[in-house]
Amino acid sequence: MGSNHCWFMLSLLLLACISARVDGVKRDILSTKTSYFWSHDVTSPITKDEYTTVNFNGRKCTAVHVNGIFRHGLRYPSAGDMQDMTSLQNKLAPNVRNAKYDFLKTWSNTYPTEKANFLHDMGKEELHIIGSRLGKRLFSLLDGNMDNIHFVSSSTQRTKASAQEFFSGLSLGVRDAPSTAITPQINNNLTRYFDMCKLYTDSVDTNITALKEYSQFLTGELFRNVILANAARLGLTNSSLSAADILMIYKTCAAELASYNRSDTWCSIQTDDEREILEYASDIEDYYLRGYGVPINTDMACPIAKDLANSIAQVIHNHSHHLNYSVAKFVFGHSDTVTHLANRLGLFRDQQPLLASNYDAMKNRKYIVSHTTPFSANIMLVLYNCHQGNGHPVENDYILRLLVNDKPEALNCGDSICSYVDTEFQNIVGCNFDDICHNHNVIPGVIVG
Ligand SMILES: *[C@@H]1O[C@H](CO)[C@@H](O)[C@H](O)[C@H]1NC(C)=O
Ligand SMILES: *[C@@H]1O[C@H](CO)[C@@H](O)[C@H](O)[C@H]1NC(C)=O
Ligand SMILES: *[C@@H]1O[C@H](CO)[C@@H](O)[C@H](O)[C@H]1NC(C)=O
Ligand SMILES: *[C@@H]1O[C@H](CO)[C@@H](O)[C@H](O)[C@H]1NC(C)=O
Ligand SMILES: *[C@@H]1O[C@H](CO)[C@@H](O)[C@H](O)[C@H]1NC(C)=O
Ligand SMILES: *[C@@H]1O[C@H](CO)[C@@H](O)[C@H](O)[C@H]1NC(C)=O
Repeated sequence: MGSNHCWFMLSLLLLACISARVDGVKRDILSTKTSYFWSHDVTSPITKDEYTTVNFNGRKCTAVHVNGIFRHGLRYPSAGDMQDMTSLQNKLAPNVRNAKYDFLKTWSNTYPTEKANFLHDMGKEELHIIGSRLGKRLFSLLDGNMDNIHFVSSSTQRTKASAQEFFSGLSLGVRDAPSTAITPQINNNLTRYFDMCKLYTDSVDTNITALKEYSQFLTGELFRNVILANAARLGLTNSSLSAADILMIYKTCAAELASYNRSDTWCSIQTDDEREILEYASDIEDYYLRGYGVPINTDMACPIAKDLANSIAQVIHNHSHHLNYSVAKFVFGHSDTVTHLANRLGLFRDQQPLLASNYDAMKNRKYIVSHTTPFSANIMLVLYNCHQGNGHPVENDYILRLLVNDKPEALNCGDSICSYVDTEFQNIVGCNFDDICHNHNVIPGVIVG
């Protein structure tokens, strides 16, 4: 297949994605179930090698390494969610008294339980397109070096398949041909360390109090009004809606949009204004479960942040000593992995915490999961060498550039491009995960992929 053909097909896919946005339902407010395509533009024009060189303080610098940490792409609902959809349908169908929602009587749950949590076709497309755009933008770094890229993923199907789709897209961008699959190295210590952190398990994961702002929001006036409005719209008799039902309608809406581009079923039960309230509920939950709400959610980033810092330090060492080094490393993990690293880098941090009581004040918040951590969310650091001419480069000759979901974000020097020695990456390598997590004298438990 010729290269033009591939780009043509890619363009068709992209057009399909753009048009998927233009109907009644706002799609970038679906929180953790938001597709990358719904909150990030993957159609803006890009140019070959636009990330390969950069001018910094009057020097021309050339990319030597890119390091990316990803959330897996859009996935099928979990088995529990698939069952809950059917239970909710069974609860509502006999009680709905509004012909507009008669779909509830005939809707058939076609989400395949055998594919629960698996990477969805839309998720494959997300990574494919993100990969092809990056491949083109870093063409000269990657061309001829596609065998010199390190891939790591967690043990789940969705992260492994995400790595493969990304590589296929990257190859398309670099070689004009999608490549045969790679096999990522499986490393849960790097991607699912949150399953191995005692302090996190005890103080957050199994601690209801940690989510008290979330439960307060669910019983608050704003949320109660959504429940009442939804129940009235459906004309429910002999039945009422719980907060969990409302959140399930919201999630099922996202699944219907992703799988079938259907906005006239579950999505039609709620309005965009209501979904923005549900989005805030989800963001509050996320903020305490993964975000800045609890300090361990930042401190726990140790393994992933340290690996990133070590890789960069090693590449600098190898490159400056004219030793072989990997031109790229891509790690495929979960929303937790990406969020913890974002916390560690100080990204998307608001002045105020997300609270049950401050919906209005936080309308323009930075911590908005639909945008910060949708499916396929990614944090990328590009390392550049600014040394030219004779002699070996020294540490001062290297700079780092931060791109988050393909947009520049500030590193701790205050800019998206910093001299390596001005970043805090050298300090990160000293962290000790087991100390941070109070893991000592604990027998390691079974790790569930
Ligand atoms: C998705 O549905 C909307 C109408 O609800 C339509 O405008 C759009 O073209 C559809 N997108 C795709 C990819 O089929
Ligand atoms: C993960 O950590 C455990 C405990 O420290 C260790 O035994 C194991 O070898 C590590 N696995 C990998 C893939 O690094
Ligand atoms: C549970 O969470 C609350 C609120 O964050 C905290 O004050 C409390 O110490 C936590 N409990 C445990 C056992 O860590
Ligand atoms: C109300 O619902 C319950 C259970 O959902 C059912 O047992 C009962 O027969 C219903 N009553 C009427 C009047 O529909
Ligand atoms: C070194 O280079 C070879 C190709 O010449 C590559 O296959 C290998 O992965 C590289 N090793 C490292 C550590 O970068
Ligand atoms: C740096 O070089 C060493 C030894 O040559 C190699 O083992 C290591 O993988 C290299 N590191 C990177 C990040 O390329």
